[in-house]
Amino acid sequence: MGKLIGRNLNTSVFISGRGSNLLSLIRYSKIQKSKININLVISNNKLSKGLKYAKKNKIKFHIINYSKKNHAERVILKYLKKNKIDLICLAGFMKILSSGFIRKFKNPILNIHPSLLPKYKGLNTHRRAIQNKDKFSGATVHLVTSKLDTGKIILQKKVRISKADTEQTLAKKVLKIEHKLYPAAIKKFLKV
Ligand code: GAR
Repeated sequence: MGKLIGRNLNTSVFISGRGSNLLSLIRYSKIQKSKININLVISNNKLSKGLKYAKKNKIKFHIINYSKKNHAERVILKYLKKNKIDLICLAGFMKILSSGFIRKFKNPILNIHPSLLPKYKGLNTHRRAIQNKDKFSGATVHLVTSKLDTGKIILQKKVRISKADTEQTLAKKVLKIEHKLYPAAIKKFLKV
């Protein structure tokens, strides 16, 4: 994939918390040229603040109990199939998808990660960038493979780390660019 199929792609966004990237993707999907419809939101967390954006925009959502990962993934696959989902966008989804899930879904899965990959895979990216006295940080949108935060990079954007930056101020700066980066990466991925 990565090619258009003559209609907008049915897209599912997976979240775990705040959902600000979900909101940016919902806004993007409403632009006529966007080529994606967001049809389904999946959250592993019933307290996820981002669910309010699904409700407000009348997007179907499901809260998935992740206490048993195998079962959770089977349930998610069922919903993806039912809603004919062509594309998954992970947006602050803090669970790792199994290789079986990725294989069975068959269509592309994108993720946004708050670092300049391949630097700082995993958690606490901002803390590690500051501790290492990096001059830049940023965000990356990439294709998901069975290895954590690897997979072809679609787009990255940098931000400068200033001496005064803390983990929190850097997170805020990076998040701001994420909201533009994810739609831009989808555009690039779909070649539109
Ligand atoms: C974002 O910074 C995203 O890059 C990060 O979680 C935040 C979610 O914010 N994702 C990861 O760390 C994934 N490993 P949001 O819920 O407001 O979109």
